[in-house]
Amino acid sequence: MCGIVGYTGHRDAYPVVIKGLKRLEYRGYDSAGVALHEKTLRVYKKMGKVADLEEHAVGKDISGKTGIGHTRWATHGEPSDRNAHPHLSSSGKLAMIHNGIIENYAQLKKELTQKGYEFKSDTDTEVLLNFIDEIKQNNSCSLEEAIRVALKRVTGAYVILLLDAENPDTIIAARKGSPLVIGVGKGEHFLGSDASPMLEYTKEVVYVNDYELAIVKPDELILKNLGNEKLTPYVQKLDIELAAIEKGGYDHFMLKEIFEQPRTIYDCLRGRLDASKNKITLSGIEQYAKEICAANRIIMIACGTSWHAGLTAEYIFEECCRINVEVEYASEFRYRNPIINPGDVIIAISQSGETADTLVAIENAKAKGAIILGVVNVVGSSIARMSHAGAYTHAGPEIGVASTKAFTAQLAVLSMIALKIAQLKGTLSAERINTLLNELEAIPEKVESILANTEPIKKIAQQYATARDFLYLGRGTNFPVALEGALKLKEISYIHAEGYPAAEMKHGPIALVDENLPVVFVATKDSYHEKVLSNMQEIRARKGKVISVITEEDETAANLSESVMQVPPCDEMLAPLLTVVPLQLLSYYIGVARGCDVDKPRNLAKSVTVE
Ligand code: M6R
Repeated sequence: MCGIVGYTGHRDAYPVVIKGLKRLEYRGYDSAGVALHEKTLRVYKKMGKVADLEEHAVGKDISGKTGIGHTRWATHGEPSDRNAHPHLSSSGKLAMIHNGIIENYAQLKKELTQKGYEFKSDTDTEVLLNFIDEIKQNNSCSLEEAIRVALKRVTGAYVILLLDAENPDTIIAARKGSPLVIGVGKGEHFLGSDASPMLEYTKEVVYVNDYELAIVKPDELILKNLGNEKLTPYVQKLDIELAAIEKGGYDHFMLKEIFEQPRTIYDCLRGRLDASKNKITLSGIEQYAKEICAANRIIMIACGTSWHAGLTAEYIFEECCRINVEVEYASEFRYRNPIINPGDVIIAISQSGETADTLVAIENAKAKGAIILGVVNVVGSSIARMSHAGAYTHAGPEIGVASTKAFTAQLAVLSMIALKIAQLKGTLSAERINTLLNELEAIPEKVESILANTEPIKKIAQQYATARDFLYLGRGTNFPVALEGALKLKEISYIHAEGYPAAEMKHGPIALVDENLPVVFVATKDSYHEKVLSNMQEIRARKGKVISVITEEDETAANLSESVMQVPPCDEMLAPLLTVVPLQLLSYYIGVARGCDVDKPRNLAKSVTVE
């Protein structure tokens, strides 16, 4: 939530910062602002998107070789010009941007108000900034020292970037619980919430850790801990190409990412799976093979779409590995004093690797002795680093706020982990494992064939774009797909949608069914098929409109449906890798038909770094 950018070097800072903010807009987009420094410290900010800020800055002095910028997802205070970052301290000497939440801001505000401070915004950020400035002035100390002192009083999460009127080319940054990357160039440094703002200038980066402070100048990067000890920055090489974060001719990132799936699933399997040899290689996971095989319980922890991947994996793990699996919302798990038994294994699933609830949940579980395995997309992210071991999903950068390719990559990795454990434990026959490995290898091609025939899906989207509600139903591994289909639709189109196990419909939601309700069945040919066909009949009997995702040439299901979206035949264990794709497309086309901003849906942000 919130994107932060910084630059100090030999270039003009404004274009670098603006371009960086556009790349980070997926993290929040209700207001944006920049602070620039050269002779004077100037702040420009505006409610709305980065494009609105650019318009606002036309004709203004945008000179300066040092600058910071922010794109906001509001927490404290409504989206408005005055709540937009950067904030200026009351003395006018410091400018600051912030990603995170200062939980004890009310207490700090009270103390500052008693000292005569007045605030121009409703934000926790302005409070922290003035608190830092107050310490600096009172103790006549450096900004760096004042930040260190101030942060010892702060509870909550933050990445902060500050400019000081007295130090024109220096940015001071600190982090706890929100991501910060520093790009190292020749005579220049870049700062960002992720690496995308710096990708076209440098591939050398330093990931700043919690409780670290960075003093960043064009030619120098000093890293310290809050105890003022110098640390050696660990410079890593990025393995991402610029094309991966651009639209590449597609109208939206979401569409590009849906269409990338044959490639991303292939990349995820590549080098790890060889069906001809009945072999799965997952070195991270293999380090803990003994513990996983001996585990009485696996707990999957995640949020949103990643939670749906965990729920799907529950079916696969229990079936293949005969291990009890629990799937937990990170936000609930972290607060309810969960029971962690010796030998419990936790699998944390996250695209961004920065989701605050998931991060804290695994931190707590790790402290209680659990083994943490990460299934994460963003390399070097906080969850990846917090985990004992894991397997990256290798889906490449996902920019569209609605998660698509990350979900199928998560399913591919989780399926491989389950099959590896089944192989080690001997809970599936070699023959069955071989069938599933061959099925997995064939998935990219099958996804390709779904994407080659989008016309029927577009037509369904046109027909139902004005519906008020949708119901999504499925059984077995297709039940979590129904949940994911419903989530995708509400995120992108703002249509109310609910997902249910198809049989559960009779216990309440059936009351909603009338001739106006589209009901999407995920109804591929599997062991539940006959039962799902009966559920379709029940909806038809009440005049509901049946739309279904079916296996190609399944005439029985087609005859029970008003409209169908077809997928190639597939083993039911892996069917979600296919059945989710038409649902992603359906949401996308409905969102576009309704004129919604599908890449940046209202109120959402890509990376939820506040709890
Ligand atoms: O980065 P994560 O996978 O941890 O994010 C979890 C959720 O915030 C995320 O899946 C969210 O639900 C998406 N908007 C779904 O499209």
